[in-house]
Amino acid sequence: MKAIVCTKYGPPEVLQIKEIEKPVPKDKEVLVRIKATTVTQADTRVRGFRVPLSYWVPARLALGLTKPRKPVLGTELAGVVEDVGKDVQNFKLGDQVFALTGHDLGCYAELRCLSEGGVIAQKPVNLSFEEAAAIPMGGLTALHFLREGKVGKGQKVLVYGASGSIGTYAVQLAKHYGSEVTGVCSTVNLDLVRSLGADRVIDYTKEDFSREGHIYDVVLDAVGKSPLSASMRSLKKGGYYLQVLAPPGANLRMRWATMTMGNRMVGGTMAPGAKDLAFLKDLAEGGKIKPVIDRTYPLEQIVEAHRYVDQGHKKGNVVIKV
Ligand SMILES: NC(=O)c1ccc[n+]([C@@H]2O[C@H](COP(=O)([O-])OP(=O)(O)OC[C@H]3O[C@@H](n4cnc5c(N)ncnc54)[C@H](OP(=O)(O)O)[C@@H]3O)[C@@H](O)[C@H]2O)c1
Repeated sequence: MKAIVCTKYGPPEVLQIKEIEKPVPKDKEVLVRIKATTVTQADTRVRGFRVPLSYWVPARLALGLTKPRKPVLGTELAGVVEDVGKDVQNFKLGDQVFALTGHDLGCYAELRCLSEGGVIAQKPVNLSFEEAAAIPMGGLTALHFLREGKVGKGQKVLVYGASGSIGTYAVQLAKHYGSEVTGVCSTVNLDLVRSLGADRVIDYTKEDFSREGHIYDVVLDAVGKSPLSASMRSLKKGGYYLQVLAPPGANLRMRWATMTMGNRMVGGTMAPGAKDLAFLKDLAEGGKIKPVIDRTYPLEQIVEAHRYVDQGHKKGNVVIKV
């Protein structure tokens, strides 16, 4: 089968289309013919080995010393079940599914085996494969952090980086939970973020969100770029600071800042289950969340897609049609 192989760490050109062996499902696995996948920040980070200096050695040990140990990148997919292992109970041939492989990667290919017990669910019936593939990573991350921050009815929530993949889902999910949402993004994305339901939008190129007198119950930094001091200034005492790029226990500076201000800090990574993805499926089918798709590329143009995502300004998601 055709797959995109990451031949070494480096620029987008290290990605090459190759023929690799077709996978065979184990007893509790399904074989999915992939129709669409995406290029996420996780993919470009592994490809370029972009990690903080203090993580360099552990990251090399985890990801592979000279090149990625898992050479086929891609963290999410949508496709059709083409084969099932003998003990699979919940999926059958022809099922249209979407899934998160996360750190296990492997979605830049025509076929991928997935454990039946993994983060896999039936695809929302009202969405295309391209739209469905763009939900798991951003949608599940936004869901995880909003739940950690106990986001609910009547709360004031600020989403910093509201135009990215996590940000666009966070705005829609926080609205679904009945919160009053302020989205921070750049000038070109103000209309997009408004269209997702944000009650207020702030242009970070013109205004400092922490200087306009609003205090929030929750600040979600969905791109890891808001100044810590600004977020602390904008939080009510006891409020939640949610940071998608912070290490699990947060770094010392963040811990000190939140502790002295009487706030609560959540970092780390999500650990979702299939029921969370099924929850997002229901929300998509009910029209409560809609994936934002910036660009779609064919598999053969994966290098161009990575070049675009590397710039750090994608709106929502970049999809790869397989
Ligand atoms: N903790 C976890 O479990 C977890 C899971 C998944 C991903 N992540 C991490 O979360 C981060 C965000 O992922 P993503 O896929 O949502 O990112 P993304 O879609 O690539 O984010 C791009 C968006 O960020 C905005 N942006 C760039 N610089 C900004 C700034 N200074 N201020 C405000 N907005 C800015 C851009 O808008 P403009 O063009 O307007 O600047 C663009 O729309 C990544 O670093 C990813 O690795 C964490």
